[in-house]
Amino acid sequence: MCGIAGYIGKRQASEFLLDALKKLEYRGYDSSGMAVLSEENTLNCVRSIGRINALEEKLKGMKSNGSIGIAHTRWATHGYPSEANAHPHSDCSGNIFVVHNGIIENYKILKEDLIKNGHKFQSNTDTEVIAHLIEERFKGSLEQTLADVLKCIEGAYALAVISKNDPGKIVVAKKSSPLVICIGKNENFIASDSSAVAGYTDKVIYLDDGELGIVTKDDCKIVSIANNNKVHKECCSVDLDVSEIRKNGYEHFLLKEIFEIPEVVKNSTRGRMILDQGLVKLGGLEVLDQDKLRNINRIIIIACGTASLAGFVGEYMLEEYAGIPVEVELGSEFRYRKPIIDSKTAVIAISQSGETADTIASLLEAKRKGALTLGIVNTVGSTISRETEAGVYNHAGPELSVASTKAFVSQIIVLALFTIYLGRTRDMSLVMGKRIIEEIDKLPCLIEETLKNHEQIKSLAAKYSKYKNFLFLGRKYNYPIAREGALKLKEIAYHIHAEGYAGGEMKHGPIAMIDENFPSVFVVPNDSVYEKMWSNMEEIKARRGKIIAITTKGNKNIEDIADDVIYIPKTLEMLTPVLTTTPLHLFAAYMGMEFGFDIDKPRNLAKSVTVE
Ligand code: AGP
Ligand code: GLU
Repeated sequence: MCGIAGYIGKRQASEFLLDALKKLEYRGYDSSGMAVLSEENTLNCVRSIGRINALEEKLKGMKSNGSIGIAHTRWATHGYPSEANAHPHSDCSGNIFVVHNGIIENYKILKEDLIKNGHKFQSNTDTEVIAHLIEERFKGSLEQTLADVLKCIEGAYALAVISKNDPGKIVVAKKSSPLVICIGKNENFIASDSSAVAGYTDKVIYLDDGELGIVTKDDCKIVSIANNNKVHKECCSVDLDVSEIRKNGYEHFLLKEIFEIPEVVKNSTRGRMILDQGLVKLGGLEVLDQDKLRNINRIIIIACGTASLAGFVGEYMLEEYAGIPVEVELGSEFRYRKPIIDSKTAVIAISQSGETADTIASLLEAKRKGALTLGIVNTVGSTISRETEAGVYNHAGPELSVASTKAFVSQIIVLALFTIYLGRTRDMSLVMGKRIIEEIDKLPCLIEETLKNHEQIKSLAAKYSKYKNFLFLGRKYNYPIAREGALKLKEIAYHIHAEGYAGGEMKHGPIAMIDENFPSVFVVPNDSVYEKMWSNMEEIKARRGKIIAITTKGNKNIEDIADDVIYIPKTLEMLTPVLTTTPLHLFAAYMGMEFGFDIDKPRNLAKSVTVE
């Protein structure tokens, strides 16, 4: 939630900051702002409600010269989106400016004390206390004051601070929210994630929790907040391809990312499948003691939102083909439970961003309790990829649309690879390993074929956009996909309410809602539960409910019962989710477009949920 950027060097800071905010806008987009320190040591702050282009417009008529600055794109946690609540926030005198990602949990009590001491607050945010605390305790050094202030702060933060009382530097600190310092030549950059500096530098230092950075034009010093000792940090080179963060002719990132899925599947599997041996090679897992991996007798998958739905598909795959009991847990629940974990439990955290606060907290809890921690992560170098003992990268490329599509499919693919990897050290035969690999190998072409239905799906969106409610139904491997279809529709076409349900559960309640104005989307490939789903379709039809069915090509009899049918090619049952997902993602995207919404950035959402 929220994007932070900072610049110190030789350029006009505002130019980099605007560019960085645009790249970080997916992290939050209700308001934005920047503060720039000029050569004459004056601080100019500009803030605006709405998207970054509103800030850009506003900046045109304003003074923002200077080569030191910080900026922020917000996803409100405390206080409405408004200009007053937009970051940067300042102290009473306007000498100190702060941008913050996270939540200061004890801000109320701190604010009360500061008000008693005469401080005047201008916003309803939790963040503003930091600026006033620095003002109150400042004794000449911005970094020492910030370190002192952070000792009385509870909660999560990534912070960047500038002050005209100690100019020539940006001071940054982090606890539980991400922050990177990127190193240039006679210039340095700060960002919530490295994608913001693509095209400027590829040298990145990942700040860790409890660390404070003092960033000047030519230097970057990291110290421990607790004892002020210098911390030696590695500077990593990251592969940042600017072309990957362009729309490449598509109207929306969402559509571009859905149409990229065949390529993504190739990238997620490249070099990882050994067909003639029916084996999978996952370099990221090779660092582990393989006996430890073989002795795992239970897997807990931890994830949030869409990533958790990929986890449910993984649960079915791993249980059926690797014979390991699996549970899927939501990050936000697991962290507050009393989980039963031992050294034979593997915890797999699945996350596109690798920065989801609830998933990270649960992962750390499992680690404390002795579980083997693994990750399936898309963002290279992210917190989850660094906190897990080993893991597998998705290689789906940057996903900029807030709704996750290509990353979701790649998570299912990696889980299928994981299943073969673990399965082949247990009961899975060579023949079965080969069979699954052969089918995975065909998927890019089969997805291409599925994508050819896009015009049909667009016209279905136009036909069905008048309905206010939808039920999505599926069984077994496609039960999580029904839930994913509903989640995407809610997320992208938010005037519609949708629920994803298990086919067999529908009769236990939701059937009460069905009538001619309440359509159902059935995810019914030809699989082991097809006949059961057919009975569920009969039950809906008997209540005059409309049916859109997603089924396997050649399954013509379905047209007798469904009002509309979308056909997908045939594949192995465990891989059908890869093909049934695409029509649902397209349906949600086109529905959002029917309403004229910004489908890349649906209201109230943010790409990376770094707060609880
Ligand atoms: C996906 O469409 C959602 N925006 C959301 O559910 C997302 O999948 C979830 O927040 C988890 O994110 P992560 O994969 O980055 O951890
Ligand atoms: N808590 C801060 C606010 O509401 C920062 C939120 C964020 O991380 O975007 O302004």
